[in-house]
Amino acid sequence: MENLTTNYLGLSLKSPLILSSSRLTSSIGNLIEAEASGAGAVVLKSLFEEQINHHIYKLSTRGDFPEANDYISYYTRSHSVDEYLKLIRNAKKTLGIPVIPSINCVSSRGWIDFAKIIADAGADAIEINVFFMPLDRKTTSADAEKIYFELIEKLKAAVSIPIAMKIGNRFSNILYMIDQFYMRGVEGVVMFNRFYEPDIDINHMEIVPAAVFSSPEERRYVLRWIAMTSAQKLKIDISASTGVQSGEDVVRYLLAGARTVQVCSALYQKGITFMNNLNQQVSDWMINKNFANIDEFRGKLNWLNYENPAAFERTQFMKYFSSVD
Ligand SMILES: Cc1cc2nc3c(=O)[nH]c(=O)nc-3n(C[C@H](O)[C@H](O)[C@H](O)COP(=O)(O)O)c2cc1C
Repeated sequence: MENLTTNYLGLSLKSPLILSSSRLTSSIGNLIEAEASGAGAVVLKSLFEEQINHHIYKLSTRGDFPEANDYISYYTRSHSVDEYLKLIRNAKKTLGIPVIPSINCVSSRGWIDFAKIIADAGADAIEINVFFMPLDRKTTSADAEKIYFELIEKLKAAVSIPIAMKIGNRFSNILYMIDQFYMRGVEGVVMFNRFYEPDIDINHMEIVPAAVFSSPEERRYVLRWIAMTSAQKLKIDISASTGVQSGEDVVRYLLAGARTVQVCSALYQKGITFMNNLNQQVSDWMINKNFANIDEFRGKLNWLNYENPAAFERTQFMKYFSSVD
């Protein structure tokens, strides 16, 4: 196996492959399997802001519970927070690879201080899985985006471990957003989250979840932005996420400039041990191309280094696909 080491968020990883945040990373057994299968790091299943806020509320009322039903739901929620902290401590005790907890949030209020507790539990870094759903047509894009910046400022003041922002790809200017993250001291950006999306079942006339697992075609929404972000003079680490089904996909993201590559759907479908195959395929490709380590080819095809940068700027089909008419 070639040397697959990489640095991410100031951490040294033996492989760029990360087991992405999902149910797969919610048990110690799976985390152990991920490390044994060659994962460079693991991102734990997201703890939801709502869970944290209920936990805080419960502590502040000191057991003065309103009603039995509420008690049960508070207990369930706070219990999951305690379980989460236990998972972090256990993972840190058991694994040799970095452990990155994740918080899913929809506001910059309430939960931030809790990030300190996560850091104190031994987290190597923290991933913030964030998306503010704009539901008000009078809210401008700039106002909607401000919430991200407020969140980062509060979080940076609260914790000293590295922070990665896991974002969606729907901003008017992704490069601006990442520049603003960087200016506020964020160490990494995960490009991109793949959100729950609604679909319509026309037979039952109801809303159903769209495909839960990604397909390799979805790389097309990610590659361009990684290639363009990694070409900026920003010291912010990029972790690729979405559509990795093979070692070739991992290589594509590294060539575009990613420091790490997260995998989720493929491991749900093929088992966590499939990470071994992914590492092996990356290594085989490196041997074939005579690369001794990842730094020799990382970002080689990004917006700055590729001889025809216009390939990343083009969005219309006119020239390249005129033969399809
Ligand atoms: C069943 C499932 C659960 C997920 N749960 C989370 C989560 O809790 N937090 C998070 O940040 N991302 C979550 N994700 C998103 C994945 O971490 C990943 O970013 C996304 O699936 C794209 O990667 P992939 O194409 O390799 O699946 C989940 C994805 C799936 C399929």
